[in-house]
Amino acid sequence: KMRIIIVKNIEAGGKKGAQIFSEALANGAKVFGLATGSTPVTTYQALAASDIDFSNSVSINLDEYVGLTPDNSQSYHYFMQKNLFDFKPFKKSYVPDGNNLDAAEVIDQYNHIIETNPIDLQILGIGQNGHIGFNEPGTPFDSETHEVALSQSTINANSRFFSSPEEVPQKAYSMGIASIMGAKQILLEAFGEKKAQIIKDALQGPVTEDVPASVLQQHPDLTVILDEAAASQLE
Ligand code: F6R
Repeated sequence: KMRIIIVKNIEAGGKKGAQIFSEALANGAKVFGLATGSTPVTTYQALAASDIDFSNSVSINLDEYVGLTPDNSQSYHYFMQKNLFDFKPFKKSYVPDGNNLDAAEVIDQYNHIIETNPIDLQILGIGQNGHIGFNEPGTPFDSETHEVALSQSTINANSRFFSSPEEVPQKAYSMGIASIMGAKQILLEAFGEKKAQIIKDALQGPVTEDVPASVLQQHPDLTVILDEAAASQLE
């Protein structure tokens, strides 16, 4: 079941997104799957400004770079702290431990965390190539948490944020597609004209591992919030 909500702009989208979080909480949701990136920022701002209380809730983030400490300003830990947790603390917040280079251990731990805290509502952004989390095109739909080698273009794009090339993350830990699809409810957000083509492909094109987000068509409870620009290619 897919519900598409089209709003004027990213600010309105953030308000709508925060409303969906509040409704889920009121309906008994305990575990919230969170994302980083520019897309969910206005949702987190609207939550931060609201009277919502996550102090009895658990959060589980999608992904993290390998090799960055939580206090590194490029880490997703840091992003979450600054954008949401400083304003709305959760009872417990999980982000993959990017500081632990033992991938097998991190993966085991994270899969266990997701199993014991089934996600009630997962918020997602989408990459222009259809990625969700760090699940790039070709990632199997049955994947759980895994380590991802970042593409050279991602590494190059990230290098401007670091003082030396050695510091630029080459890998990330990410929930897999099956981990994401296991959430009871999914909220996908996309804003801006740059997302218009991939939103059409993901929501109205064939379901294929070449477009990771296309799997969301098979989810039983998907809400999509788009601004008019991101919705402009939909038929
Ligand atoms: C973030 C994440 C990514 C982003 C995607 C879109 O945790 O997993 O998949 O959601 O790259 O990024 P933005 O929102 O910056 O356009």
